[in-house]
Amino acid sequence: MPAVVGEKLSKIFGQGDGQVVALKDADVAVEAGEIVALMGPSGSGKTTLLRALSLIDPPTTGYVAIGNDVVFEGARVLTDDRQLRRKRMGIIFQAYNLIPFLTSVENIALVLTLNGISRREAMARANKLLSRLELGHRAETYPATLSGGEQQRVAVARAVINDPAVILADEPTAALDTERGKAVMDLLRQLGRVQGAAVIVVTHDERMIEGFDRVYHMTDGRITNH
Ligand SMILES: Nc1ncnc2c1ncn2[C@@H]1O[C@H](COP(=O)(O)OP(=O)(O)OP(=O)(O)O)[C@@H](O)[C@H]1O
Ligand SMILES: [Mg+2]
Repeated sequence: MPAVVGEKLSKIFGQGDGQVVALKDADVAVEAGEIVALMGPSGSGKTTLLRALSLIDPPTTGYVAIGNDVVFEGARVLTDDRQLRRKRMGIIFQAYNLIPFLTSVENIALVLTLNGISRREAMARANKLLSRLELGHRAETYPATLSGGEQQRVAVARAVINDPAVILADEPTAALDTERGKAVMDLLRQLGRVQGAAVIVVTHDERMIEGFDRVYHMTDGRITNH
């Protein structure tokens, strides 16, 4: 059974003449342990699709299931979506949304303490993951003084620290050079293969393509391959 399913997802922004149909009957289904790419031109609906699946900005109509739970059906959210994201999803957006008054390691550890893990253990796990991403030396640094690529890796670490069942990543390697981009992709792949996460990665990066099990192509709000 897929870990994440979206069926007949539509998303309409605005009204009347200003209306934009950003998703049109989009279907996706990703199994646990599977890592898929989502590709398509700028404005084709990739970010909108990830926001719809995560219920951060729910679809206008359609169906979303996370594991056994139907979380959106018809036009209604059927769950506490904040809890759902906090406990079962790891989300990396184009804007990193790091908390400015927390250090790198605190930004990551926060996810664990919000889920009831002690601060000591949370900090230890966060430091370990930062080291793996070659950011150990930036653990005590605040986001404002990190480079773009460093912020991106802190955001990746924060998204995956909790071993989420579903990982949605919007160009997680865009700000990174080849080596560091590869390290992030290796981490996402490991989370898929070893932890059994379902991983969807928006990418324009042809260099990363061989690492994926499948590719979804989007055009004008539609998934064009089936
Ligand atoms: N909040 C919004 N209000 C109105 N229109 C929006 C909104 N968000 C996205 N859109 C429109 O929906 C369409 C899909 O946008 P989306 O951000 O999903 O594209 P994308 O595939 O992620 O593009 P990119 O590769 O540039 O990030 C675009 O036409 C965009 O202008
Ligand atoms: Mg986008």
